[in-house]
Amino acid sequence: MIVGILKEIKSEENRVSMTPSGVEVMTANGHTLLVEQTAGVGSGFSDAMYVDAGAEIVATPAEVFERSDMVMHVKEPQPSEYAMVKKDQIVFTYMHFAADEGLTRDFLKTDSVAIAYETIEDTSGSLPLLTPMSEVAGRMSVQEAAKYLERVHGGRGILLGGVTGVPPATVVVIGGGIVGTNAAQMACGLGAKVYLLDMNLDRLRHLGEVMPKNCFPMMSSPSTVRELIREADVVVGAVLIPGAKAPKLITREMLGTMKPGAVIVDVAIDQGGCFETSKPTTHGNPIYEVDGIIHYCVANMPGAVPITSTIALTNATLPYAVEIANKGWKRACKENEGIKLGLNMAQGKITYKGVSDAFGLEYTPADTLL
Ligand SMILES: NC(=O)c1ccc[n+]([C@@H]2O[C@H](COP(=O)([O-])OP(=O)(O)OC[C@H]3O[C@@H](n4cnc5c(N)ncnc54)[C@H](O)[C@@H]3O)[C@@H](O)[C@H]2O)c1
Repeated sequence: MIVGILKEIKSEENRVSMTPSGVEVMTANGHTLLVEQTAGVGSGFSDAMYVDAGAEIVATPAEVFERSDMVMHVKEPQPSEYAMVKKDQIVFTYMHFAADEGLTRDFLKTDSVAIAYETIEDTSGSLPLLTPMSEVAGRMSVQEAAKYLERVHGGRGILLGGVTGVPPATVVVIGGGIVGTNAAQMACGLGAKVYLLDMNLDRLRHLGEVMPKNCFPMMSSPSTVRELIREADVVVGAVLIPGAKAPKLITREMLGTMKPGAVIVDVAIDQGGCFETSKPTTHGNPIYEVDGIIHYCVANMPGAVPITSTIALTNATLPYAVEIANKGWKRACKENEGIKLGLNMAQGKITYKGVSDAFGLEYTPADTLL
């Protein structure tokens, strides 16, 4: 198969959908790799590195689309690209159709085969192509909180880990999933006192067994959140209710009970945010202040660390890219339920129920097209 790696064109996006080492694996499987010129530069990979790995460098996105059987991106295709997508071409990337009716309707008209990273499932029912980005965002949340706690940024002026004779900061992480656990691990590693809240008892039991001694897993409830945020120097919002907007766990009124200069990082901002006062920010202008509390609400946190994010993402996507390229989309879907769940559109039909339900569009079960 001819596989095209496109340069990302969405603003502030420096990741790339395949590393040179991924290209080497794909070419060893007998595929031809076309990489758009400078596609990897933002992630530290030069064109020469791709050539050494066996790729051909191609000057324009139009040529990549024109010559490829499958194209890969990180973010969803942008409007300037829709006309370049070919009928029956496989487009393998994050799509997030259910969040964007315009994209859904326009992309349907391309008659391409859209396989979305975010709906692929593994055998345990988890989402293997979302996990690496949650790991990055969780770890980064504490790094960012530590920075904005510094006085020069308007924060309380407290060091997360304290020092000899001086107590550490208190970090409250709400949500004990991938983001929350990674945030808590980072904060614990820096020596903070960490409360990690979740609503799932089995999850809390597991966290109690695996987390360090300075982490205190606790059942989440409105009263626990109310109590703990009074003590907090940092609050990380890391909740997810699948298929729903994040619940508002801290109201504006509650900010008044917090220590002035405390930092709240709302990682769940991409699902609407879990604090009433959250609104999406960018890496260029990541924070704002409400009632003396610093808010950090960047919706694409992994974009700030493209080298780590690209390698983490492509470690997860590569086995699927190999399988789809080796078998073609129909056989890959037939033989791998997880990839079939990733199939969102084919032959002008929507094959993922969550997307058709979101906009009242017709749903066609993937099996009828295979
Ligand atoms: N901003 C970014 O750049 C970025 C990057 C990656 C993920 N995210 C977002 O981070 C959020 C968390 O993602 P994840 O991968 O950790 O999800 P996850 O499903 O692994 O974990 C979510 C956890 O929240 C818990 N939860 C639900 N309601 C709760 C409540 N009221 N109190 C306490 N816990 C509650 C669940 O039990 C679950 O354990 C999602 O909204 C995701 O979209 C944002």
